[in-house]
Amino acid sequence: MTLTGRHVLLGVSGGIASYKACTLARRLADAGAVVDVVLTASAAEFVRPVTFEALVGRPALGSLWDPGRALAHIALARDSAVAVLAPATANLLARAAAGIADDLLTAILLARTGPVLAAPAMNDAMYAHPATQANLAILAARGWRFVGPVPGPLAEGPSDRPGRMSEPEEIFLEIERAVRAPASKLAGKAVLVTAGPTREALDPIRVLSNRSSGRQGFALAEAAFARGADVTLVAGPTALTPPYGCRVDRVDSTAELAAAVARHLPSADVLLMAAAPADFRPATTDAKKRTRAAGDLSLTLAPTPDVLVGTRDRRKPGALAVGFAYETDDGETNARAKLAAKGLDLVVLNLAEEGAGAEGETNRLTLVSAEGVTAGPLETKRQAAERVLDAVERLL
Ligand SMILES: Cc1cc2nc3c(=O)[nH]c(=O)nc-3n(C[C@H](O)[C@H](O)[C@H](O)COP(=O)(O)O)c2cc1C
Repeated sequence: MTLTGRHVLLGVSGGIASYKACTLARRLADAGAVVDVVLTASAAEFVRPVTFEALVGRPALGSLWDPGRALAHIALARDSAVAVLAPATANLLARAAAGIADDLLTAILLARTGPVLAAPAMNDAMYAHPATQANLAILAARGWRFVGPVPGPLAEGPSDRPGRMSEPEEIFLEIERAVRAPASKLAGKAVLVTAGPTREALDPIRVLSNRSSGRQGFALAEAAFARGADVTLVAGPTALTPPYGCRVDRVDSTAELAAAVARHLPSADVLLMAAAPADFRPATTDAKKRTRAAGDLSLTLAPTPDVLVGTRDRRKPGALAVGFAYETDDGETNARAKLAAKGLDLVVLNLAEEGAGAEGETNRLTLVSAEGVTAGPLETKRQAAERVLDAVERLL
């Protein structure tokens, strides 16, 4: 519930993507936001207001002339943490750029001084048209922010040019960022996150690795983005979709992870080292696949460099460093030892147990810092990420 009690104005205009505004409206309500939906007359041709009312639990608005709501447009313009336009049609952008206020939504936009986030959605030629581009430039110069559009299939067929509305989850993350960043100490900070396992090659085909899925690190990256941070994610091999809004640097081995971290380290204000790098690698890597016919296989393993310790003397002055410990035994003792030995501000301890840890969707984290030891509940990895970032903000 990252938006509990926050007022979000969702303006919906008359594009085919207005059906996706229903998903967005519900996503906002599920995050705890108080959502006021305002539809243009054209939007109401696509999706009936009652649909939004049922999804967000508040009446959807559309008219300047409803009895009892004479100055609703002024209150709505003033009281929302962010005004979101999804979809924003070419026509709505043109009316807003020209300062026209001939319906409830455009009257709100003209009276608004707070942030506006627009998700344009239209035919690719309409988007590329100089009139639309000029309107976008005018609105950007006035401080409007945009999410999308992206290339991809349009209602009228395939396209590789921008026009398609960004996905509701991406728009949601931009809304979260717009609402949360002003109160977050992470806003504008360079946050470096590592995630996932690493792999060490035995031969061209086989690898040594571990069970890390990367989910906790990806959730940390997403949560830091939602608080306004400038996020770089160094990710080991995982099948997860890269988190929206983050710069992603893919690596394979622990040596590659160490090199990528070293590249991003000089600018990082906060390090969240959630990756599970392989601690050992085969001492030698065979050039060809070793066949079964060769009989028993004995491996000699050599330690890999400790990535976190390697950052210790090269961090930006004042950078805050968070290490992650994934343990089966003696978790707290090991976490305290790691705090001192690796020069960390916080160790996040993750005990291997049912329902928590590397592979699943949930985690139970214990935070160990100079503040003391705090055990969290079993929760989703995104909720666990929020808990870690709350602690980071207390320490910043
Ligand atoms: C089926 C259909 C789909 C449309 N899709 C879009 C669209 O995706 N984007 C857009 O800018 N206009 C679209 N239009 C045109 C707008 O509905 C039209 O410009 C309208 O005046 C927009 O009004 P509004 O901006 O007040 O909502 C579509 C029209 C129809 C009939």
